[in-house]
Amino acid sequence: MQKKVSGTRDILPEEALFWQELEKISRDIFTRYNYKEIRTPLIEGASLFNRSLGESTEIVQKQMFLIKNKEELYALRPEGTASIVRAYIENNLDKTARFRKFYYFGPMFRLERPQKGRLRQFHHIGCEAIGSLDPDLDVEVIALADSLLKAFSVKDYKIKINSLGSLKDKKELIALLNKKLKSKLSALCADCKTRFKKNILRILDCKNDNCLKVISGLEIDDSYLCLQSREHFSRVKAGLDALSINYEVTPYLVRGLDYYTHTVFEIVHKDLGAQDALGAGGRYDNLVKELGGPEAGAIGFAFGVERLLLVRSPESVAKSKNILYLITLGQEAKTEGLKLLEELRKNEVACEADYESKSLKGALRAANDLNAGKVLIIGENELKKGVVTLKDMVSGAQKEIARQALIKELKC
Ligand code: HAM
Repeated sequence: MQKKVSGTRDILPEEALFWQELEKISRDIFTRYNYKEIRTPLIEGASLFNRSLGESTEIVQKQMFLIKNKEELYALRPEGTASIVRAYIENNLDKTARFRKFYYFGPMFRLERPQKGRLRQFHHIGCEAIGSLDPDLDVEVIALADSLLKAFSVKDYKIKINSLGSLKDKKELIALLNKKLKSKLSALCADCKTRFKKNILRILDCKNDNCLKVISGLEIDDSYLCLQSREHFSRVKAGLDALSINYEVTPYLVRGLDYYTHTVFEIVHKDLGAQDALGAGGRYDNLVKELGGPEAGAIGFAFGVERLLLVRSPESVAKSKNILYLITLGQEAKTEGLKLLEELRKNEVACEADYESKSLKGALRAANDLNAGKVLIIGENELKKGVVTLKDMVSGAQKEIARQALIKELKC
């Protein structure tokens, strides 16, 4: 038997209902916040991610699905932000309106070791607002993430926020870490020893017990932030307070991608285990310029759809569609039924029929299994009288209805 690739999943029809529901809710809410959908290719030039996420990040170092074709190196996109910034620049979107808001759904690919909540093909629901440095936009974006989670019926999540400051402040933080960690290198895990040379900020994310001990003793406060960065972060916090959004300032939250500056945030859920981030995001004020575009501050976030589905509360189970089930008895009724199905569907009535030549009892059972609210029966008797029998599957009541009056009856 042929098997799926490790770290990928089949989304079977029943589960697909949840996905449709999540997408529908997201579209409604993104639209309320004036975000417009964008769809970018699944493959990009690999250099796009090297330049934006950073050469020394774990994604670029170890997790990209690369495809070599002649001299070109492509990558299956590991995330959406870089592609959207590329599209914003390449399509001159800034020329018609500098400030743009985009939302997106779609698969992302990372060559990780699969475990609960960690896949090689997973999906993002995300958004990017490009063209503003206003801290109120950070507030709006975090509020939007919070609204989405509420609308998805996710409970007990925590919003963690931090500020990395400007590029200059970030360099200051890196220098500070360098100074403080130099003498403690021997106590760090092997990965962190490498991170010390290549990507020192990532040490603050390490979950190794020894590293955690070292990190907790670092005593780094926010003194690496300049006055302006501090002011930006204060306004973000004040805005969140004004909207009564619960958050926790988490000093060592740094995020794993190089493009972040100023506000970064992560939304975690206790039921997710080791991979506890439901979603994450932050500002990336230098990325548009670095990729060849104009000066344009930006912020966004992405939720991992598979992780959202792991923590949704049971009452949010998608309601099954109220479908009508048609049972025909005999070939003549079957032909009539075929015409009726088409007519019903043209009139926006969702319906299904028995294609397995079941007995009446078997077909009623199938209707039940399908959660059909109503069943239509056409047999010899009904054909002769020009009627159909309509059975309500909840009350069990049934009545004959003239064939011509059926659509009107079903619509009221
Ligand atoms: P990220 O933190 O790499 O950020 O991914 C966002 C979310 O995707 C994570 O919080 C997690 O829920 C989910 N996720 C990541 N990797 C996996 C995986 N291997 N399996 C399942 N789920 C996963 C970004 O990608 C940024 N582009 C977010 C952003 C948008 N920042 C600004 N704008």
